[in-house]
Amino acid sequence: MSRTQASPVALPDLRGRTALVTGASDGVGVEIARGLAAAGADLVLPVRNRVKGERAVERVRESAPDARADLVDLDLARLDSVRALATAILADRTPLDLVVLNAGIVLLGDRERHVSTDGFELHFQTNFLGHFALTTALLPLLQERGARVVVQLSLAARFGRPAWDDLQSERRYSPLRAYGASKVASGLFGYELARRSAAAGGVTVHLSHPGVVPDTGIAPAMRARDRGSLGRRLADGLGNTPAQAAQPALLAAVTVPTAPPLAAGAASGASGRVGPAPAPGFFGPAGALHFGGAAGPVRPYRRLADPVDGARMWAVAEQLLQDRSDAVRA
Ligand SMILES: NC(=O)c1ccc[n+]([C@@H]2O[C@H](COP(=O)([O-])OP(=O)(O)OC[C@H]3O[C@@H](n4cnc5c(N)ncnc54)[C@H](OP(=O)(O)O)[C@@H]3O)[C@@H](O)[C@H]2O)c1
Repeated sequence: MSRTQASPVALPDLRGRTALVTGASDGVGVEIARGLAAAGADLVLPVRNRVKGERAVERVRESAPDARADLVDLDLARLDSVRALATAILADRTPLDLVVLNAGIVLLGDRERHVSTDGFELHFQTNFLGHFALTTALLPLLQERGARVVVQLSLAARFGRPAWDDLQSERRYSPLRAYGASKVASGLFGYELARRSAAAGGVTVHLSHPGVVPDTGIAPAMRARDRGSLGRRLADGLGNTPAQAAQPALLAAVTVPTAPPLAAGAASGASGRVGPAPAPGFFGPAGALHFGGAAGPVRPYRRLADPVDGARMWAVAEQLLQDRSDAVRA
């Protein structure tokens, strides 16, 4: 088997645009940043490790030597760090036109359940709640700028449903389940953000997934262990290179929305709004099993567009953030 190859997405001229990409210190995120910079965008790259961040900027400048790339600090697993970044961006009025919520962890191969310093299951906070907190804090600025938000999902979001009575995986934990749950939560958030934005105006939302990308830093424990396994060979054969895996998110970042409206009643969520809201596009690789191949629109994972679950996840996340900030103040 050989890894599928496809042409990169043709990006429009992005000079004068500013893009924030999370998780750009490694893997797919570096390649998203590279693609945007090569099209002329200025970059804001929030990282938790400055040394890796500097290396990523060097990589970006291989294809865009004059790229403007500002490294800023962000640890999504710490809400104080998320708040500090949002406060700085709002204070500086950083002219964000695009936010790509790409950072993520999956602790496959590690059976222990990990909890952030804020007390949340680590996949839930890193992949979902931290991004939710960042995006909602930035929302006034994003609305004013008419910005676009891209939410990076995973094939793992396809079949999951929120376990409302166990969102922190306290009763049942496996890394894959917790990862899938965090990506389902992120998907519900993306669609709900799109519905709210259709009502409030300003922000466009699209979703993407990179397929399967064997050569990134994610899930190192599992990757070390599973070398030579059938799953690993399938992923190696059918999966995407990091550069190719960046293409769905890049497409989501620039594509002109043409998706039909969400199903009738979809916009009635918690806010009681009526009327159809435009559906976000969903982009992924079109090859075998959607592991790899050319990026294009893919069939949305219908459950993620459920307006009741979307509104509920949004409300739960807001409450968790409120409870946490009350606890810190007390
Ligand atoms: N690789 C795959 O097969 C695959 C498949 C489906 C979906 N995805 C999704 O694609 C996205 C990128 O994954 P990848 O494969 O490129 O993984 P990766 O190489 O491990 O990169 C993950 C990025 O997220 C950052 N990150 C992790 N925890 C963070 C935190 N607490 N605060 C801030 N940043 C944090 C990492 O920063 P550090 O450099 O500091 O670690 C790194 O920049 C993720 O959302 C992932 O779920 C990947």
